[in-house]
Amino acid sequence: MTVEVTEIRYVVDPGGRITGNTRVPGDKSISHRAVILGAIAEGNTRVSNLLEGTDVLATVAAFRKMSVQIEGPESGEMFIRGVGLHGLSVPSEDLDLGNSGTAMRLMTGLLAGQCFDSRLTGDRSLSRRPMRRVIDPLILMGASIESTAQGTPPLKVRSVERLSGIRYVLPVASAQVKSALLLAGLYSNGETCIEEPRPTRDHTERMLAGFQYRCERTDSTVCLAGGGRLRGTEIDVPADLSSAAFFIVAATIAATSRLRLRSVGINPTRNGVIEILRSMGASIETENEQEICGEPIADIVVRSAPLRGVKVPADLVPLSIDEFPILCIAAACAAGTTTIRGASELRHKESDRISSMVAGLRGLGIDTEEFADGMSIRGGDFDGGVVNSFGDHRVAMAFCVAGLRARSPVEIRDCGNVVTSFPGFIRTASSCGLRINELR
Ligand code: S3P
Repeated sequence: MTVEVTEIRYVVDPGGRITGNTRVPGDKSISHRAVILGAIAEGNTRVSNLLEGTDVLATVAAFRKMSVQIEGPESGEMFIRGVGLHGLSVPSEDLDLGNSGTAMRLMTGLLAGQCFDSRLTGDRSLSRRPMRRVIDPLILMGASIESTAQGTPPLKVRSVERLSGIRYVLPVASAQVKSALLLAGLYSNGETCIEEPRPTRDHTERMLAGFQYRCERTDSTVCLAGGGRLRGTEIDVPADLSSAAFFIVAATIAATSRLRLRSVGINPTRNGVIEILRSMGASIETENEQEICGEPIADIVVRSAPLRGVKVPADLVPLSIDEFPILCIAAACAAGTTTIRGASELRHKESDRISSMVAGLRGLGIDTEEFADGMSIRGGDFDGGVVNSFGDHRVAMAFCVAGLRARSPVEIRDCGNVVTSFPGFIRTASSCGLRINELR
């Protein structure tokens, strides 16, 4: 799974308008959870509109190595023969989770409760990401996990007699940590209760309910008791708001645009990006709101609109954590200054997204100030030039959108990881009006 990515570059020609009616690929967070919960459920699970990005495929491959039979995915359809909570078998080799922090953290929680040892590895970026945030509370539950001295992968998870439920207050607002502990809680004696300092995405809790596993929330605390069973189900994955966000901003900043994005997940623990963009003046409407498999979805209709700079409220940061690269592009196209603070978590993503975005924006002539926990961006005009994505899929796609408003072509380096979350990005982007050439 960990292959050296061939250097892929994108060159974006400036100008153009964004139009059409499209559906972006399935939600990454929900797709990972569908694979994980489907594998440990009793009975079969059918998934449609699964994201076939390499991150989710790494999770699928990990379960195949633990003898779970999975058909597909093909055109988003996947069929999992669940083995039950205690039916996974010892993997014959390391579980390589590629570029995926979600897979690494959630799988660590799940594997901590198994009666076999396992070893989790990842690519260069994942091998730099902090894992103590899951290891420390899992050890409090009785798990045995070793990392490097820096608290990074590879992780060695050893089987223990039994885990015990805990009450744990998350030191950082993280859905990955919350979900890892809930997965370990399935294998624990007694109750596991996780308190969040700020709301984070609640897909795990919603999906557990879909698998008929009781998981209860009171205010900011979510609890479940170990030892139950999950029952196989059908899951239709909404289109990923994090992928849709690139096109929402593209249609906002390109003149005379109008774009419809179908069936996008608008879960209130994810939709901070819509709220922030609306507060900047964006024209974003939702139509056909409905719920599928416990998740709210809607068609999103976006029209071009002038933007103004804002101070991003701190409570919206966890609700839009993956959208900051593209929000930075919106900020650069806004009149006035946008300030982002309380976002130091951005330094621990697929790249350090504060420094990656500051470097790229400055390289394109945008006046930007860097803080330990965020940045401020003064709206202006993009020059053309060369930008490094630092191997970060969301940084790469964000700068493609910046190209729309640049004075001359923008070249983005190291774009091989776009396939982790958005296979077919260039095709979808071209069909909406972006002019991107892929160079290898
Ligand atoms: C995710 C949670 C977030 C997010 C990531 C996906 C998830 O990470 O950035 O892309 O699926 O639970 P943190 O939990 O580290 O904030």
